[in-house]
Amino acid sequence: MNNPYLNIATEAAHRAGELAMRYRGRLESIPVERKARHDYVSDVDRACEQIIREWITRHHRDHAILGEEQGLSGDSDHVWIIDPIDGTSNYLRGIAHFAISIALQVEGRLEAGVVYNPASDELFTASRGQGAFLNNRRIRVSGRKELDSAIVATSFPFRTRRLMDAYQGMFDAVFSKVEDIRRIGAASLDLAYVACGRLDAYWELNLKPWDVAAGALLVQEAGGVVMDVAGGDRWLSSGHILAAPFKLITPLRAAIEPHVDNRVKVRLSASKNPIEG
Ligand code: IPD
Ligand code: CA
Ligand code: CA
Repeated sequence: MNNPYLNIATEAAHRAGELAMRYRGRLESIPVERKARHDYVSDVDRACEQIIREWITRHHRDHAILGEEQGLSGDSDHVWIIDPIDGTSNYLRGIAHFAISIALQVEGRLEAGVVYNPASDELFTASRGQGAFLNNRRIRVSGRKELDSAIVATSFPFRTRRLMDAYQGMFDAVFSKVEDIRRIGAASLDLAYVACGRLDAYWELNLKPWDVAAGALLVQEAGGVVMDVAGGDRWLSSGHILAAPFKLITPLRAAIEPHVDNRVKVRLSASKNPIEG
């Protein structure tokens, strides 16, 4: 790994992961707050973000940081995008499927990404032009060529139920064409699993930049394609994301795109870079 930014992200993820694992034995004692309907934050999410921010700031005081729990701080063309615990519901229920997700965007382009599941000690890393790795071993998207043998991950728009009609149409269309569908509960790991071929493809609506930034770079660097659900490049700003190997992206998009309704479209017209607004 010769990208110094990747080293910083990796060390930050390890530090946060260590903290998250320390609390796993006493989950019931962790204070949890309801941020919004279907949206919870625990003291561990907040503490992990703090650890990551401190580590980044120690090395790059001038960089901006966008974190799920503290929002955007600083003003720089280098922006770190952090999800301190992706899959909080899994984490708080003792389900060992959650991750720390850290990405670096430079001048609007993703340059480095780390997704770390401390429960399985699996570290996924990618830097632009240098490939994607799982625990330092090169990974590639799956070589599957047909949707009918593909396992596709997704998640339901449980926080934005107004998208349910469109989503239902997408789900039915995809489900009728694939081998099976998974909803595992952590977007960053869904993308990381696509990157290493455990899953063949993934789509979800209405995600935030911190859910997908690192994972999307993993997929791209593992030879896959990332697009928004209408086939455009606004997946980071809209959060309506579709990721798959080259051979599967066209049939998957063909199944999903006809169900893009006006409620889904609204976010597809926003600025391409969410950090610019
Ligand atoms: C959530 C997870 C989940 C996805 C949600 C995300 P959080 O992140 O990634 O799989 O379906 O849309 O918000 O809240 O656990 O960080
Ligand atoms: Ca998340
Ligand atoms: Ca989170």
